[in-house]
Amino acid sequence: MGTNKQSFSAPRGMRDFYPEDMPLRNAVFAAWHTAAGQHGFQQYDACVVETLDLLKKKSGDEIIGQIYDFTDKSDRELALRPEMTPSLARMVAARQNALRFPLKWYSIVQCFRYERMSKGRKREHFQLNLDIIGENSVLAEVEVISAATRALESLGLGPDDFCVHVSSRALLTDLLLKLDIPADHHPATFLALDKLGKISKEATSELLLTSGLDRSHVESVLSLLAIKSLDEANNILGAPTPASMRLSDFFQFMESYGLSDRVAFDISIVRGLAYYTGIVFEAFDRSKELRAIFGGGRYDNLLGDIGGNPAGGVGLGFGDVVLAELLTNKNSSIGVPNTADTGVGYMSEEQKPAAISLSLSLRQENILVDLALHPEKAKTFFSRADRSGFQQAIFIGPDDVASGTVRVKNLKTGEQQQMDLA
Ligand code: HAM
Repeated sequence: MGTNKQSFSAPRGMRDFYPEDMPLRNAVFAAWHTAAGQHGFQQYDACVVETLDLLKKKSGDEIIGQIYDFTDKSDRELALRPEMTPSLARMVAARQNALRFPLKWYSIVQCFRYERMSKGRKREHFQLNLDIIGENSVLAEVEVISAATRALESLGLGPDDFCVHVSSRALLTDLLLKLDIPADHHPATFLALDKLGKISKEATSELLLTSGLDRSHVESVLSLLAIKSLDEANNILGAPTPASMRLSDFFQFMESYGLSDRVAFDISIVRGLAYYTGIVFEAFDRSKELRAIFGGGRYDNLLGDIGGNPAGGVGLGFGDVVLAELLTNKNSSIGVPNTADTGVGYMSEEQKPAAISLSLSLRQENILVDLALHPEKAKTFFSRADRSGFQQAIFIGPDDVASGTVRVKNLKTGEQQQMDLA
């Protein structure tokens, strides 16, 4: 008789985490929690399913094309969230009168995007979100970036490994207006510039042309990308503008935080999402081999747009996928395996009650105990214990029960100690 076995794998781009994958994930989450806590952020959470309407209105065009949407049994149009920011804005707007501002909230959430799969991009990822709402001071931008760099640092990643590239949509707006490009062309221009780096210069020109810019404007827009410093931008503008002064304050604060070596001005950073209004940033690995490590910026109209009272916000999203690649490339040994301290085994059914009561009393002392589920030979037990990574192993035979004592073997040193069974 032929067997007709069907085999299943996870849907393309979705992720399974086997036990050996969990230590790294847990270490990343722990670094995120600690850095957010150290910077005074409070944790929140939201439903993973959102109304499609909210996401369509508030996410950028690029994300809208990547939404996992569906209709529920009552014909509601819903979607798995591709990002957290619209949900955050919705939650804040719903309680705006009761909440105290500025609020500093963080979350660690699963997001889903139907993206073309590439290195560093999957269809499901975990994302740390750090947001400050109701604060106009540029110190808010500094604090969210400081928290993200702190998380990287605690995972062993420093200035040699990554750099946060920073610019400002408000500055770019000033420059575009200086080039006589009217404001209604700016959103499409931002979107096209954000694509640079992912698509060729020619394809970007094409996008700008189809968005309605004429050829000479397209050339002057692309020439802006040659700006290498804030001073150069100020020269083109004629004098510093509030946007360029804000960026300069930002870099000064970064210096006073001792983080100058982790940030750089980069006019090409625009961000794909529609809601950003001011400073925008993206962190990349130094060799710029990988996709962005984290990205964010200031969004001053989002709350007003969603039906709340106007309130400025700034925040970032920091995914686990590129971070894991960065750590792997660095041969990092981050992530402690999740194994029990002590393995307890026994030779036959007669010793099982003694093994159970010993395990229970060790657990009372907060020792992590792996109790064998069936009797086994001493040799089998000890070779299993060696492979499991336990620190110590206890094997109970008939003589041990008779004497009321048992030997605790330290698996690292081979030393044995006597212990009472009762
Ligand atoms: P985003 O740049 O679209 O921003 O995503 C932020 C980060 O999430 C990326 O830098 C990357 O680490 C990770 N990420 C995004 N898509 C994927 C993917 N397909 N696979 C793996 N990782 C991914 C936002 O989502 C904004 N909502 C961030 C924000 C919060 N802005 C203000 N507050």
